Amino acid sequence: MKNVAILTSGGDSQGMNAYISKLVGLLVKNKINVYGIKRGFQGLLDEDFIKLNLKNVENISFLGGSVLKTARCTEFYEDKGVEKGFNILKNHKIDCLVVLGGNGSFKGALNLIDKGMNVICIPGTIDNDLFYSDISLGFDTAVNNAVDTIEKIKQTMLSNNRGIIVEVMGRNCGNIALNTALSVNANALIINEDKKSIKNAENYVKNAILNGVESPLIVLQENIMDGQKLADKFQKKFKKQFKFEHIGYIQRGGEPTVKDKIFANLLAIQTMNSILKGEFNIAIGMQKESIFNIPLKEALTKESNFNKNLYELYLSNL
Ligand code: F6P
Repeated sequence: MKNVAILTSGGDSQGMNAYISKLVGLLVKNKINVYGIKRGFQGLLDEDFIKLNLKNVENISFLGGSVLKTARCTEFYEDKGVEKGFNILKNHKIDCLVVLGGNGSFKGALNLIDKGMNVICIPGTIDNDLFYSDISLGFDTAVNNAVDTIEKIKQTMLSNNRGIIVEVMGRNCGNIALNTALSVNANALIINEDKKSIKNAENYVKNAILNGVESPLIVLQENIMDGQKLADKFQKKFKKQFKFEHIGYIQRGGEPTVKDKIFANLLAIQTMNSILKGEFNIAIGMQKESIFNIPLKEALTKESNFNKNLYELYLSNL
């Protein structure tokens, strides 16, 4: 093994830089050349390669985002694009490509494996929607950011006796919303995985108000409904001011939490060990606090790892 390349793809997530920093250090120690490919699969097709060394990455582990930048590349959905990417990697004599990203990026990686490339995939997405792993890199920081922001919003809502609906990220997965709701003690939660949760939210809010709650708080997962319309509806129904906040990209920025930094380092150590053992075409993940490898194909057999037990527990106490 002489040359390894790394790229980050799809939505960036906190901890990607910590992972890059650790892995580059380990590869250099093992006398393996390492290249960064800028802007994910798009940068691969544009041959945007840079040689990485310790100097480039020594001081990046506390930064959010990705120093390699990221992109969503539609050209890579087509076989022509994948073939072109594969040939570019071959021309650069890359023996193994490391891909940090979510479901979409893993699918791109799988196509490269079919062409004959050695690939290792790392779960880098705030959504925590990769079914094979209990957790993905950036999820813990994103939830912490959402909670931090909502606690601030709550203070002003409480002072004004206003209800509040807060929309969080997660794409089609309710894990960010659920963990946020549990942390801020939300009165209702609306998620994709429970189609009745829209209807039920109204009852939960009604009961909360009857029990004396002056500022009901509803956590809404993105891509479900118009939060402003729901706030208007609740305002009319409960004769109380309701505000809507879409907290957006603040969830994806900032320094990774200690949990994400440790996870990033463990993922990098496992990557290095897999490279040394010649284990490729895998996704690395975490289950029950243990790091493990799974064939990439298997990692993609289901879409989501929504934590149903945790959701039941949350509902049982509303
Ligand atoms: O997949 C990560 C994520 O942050 C989702 O939670 C969100 O829906 C999406 O990316 C936003 O994507 P973009 O950065 O392209 O707007």
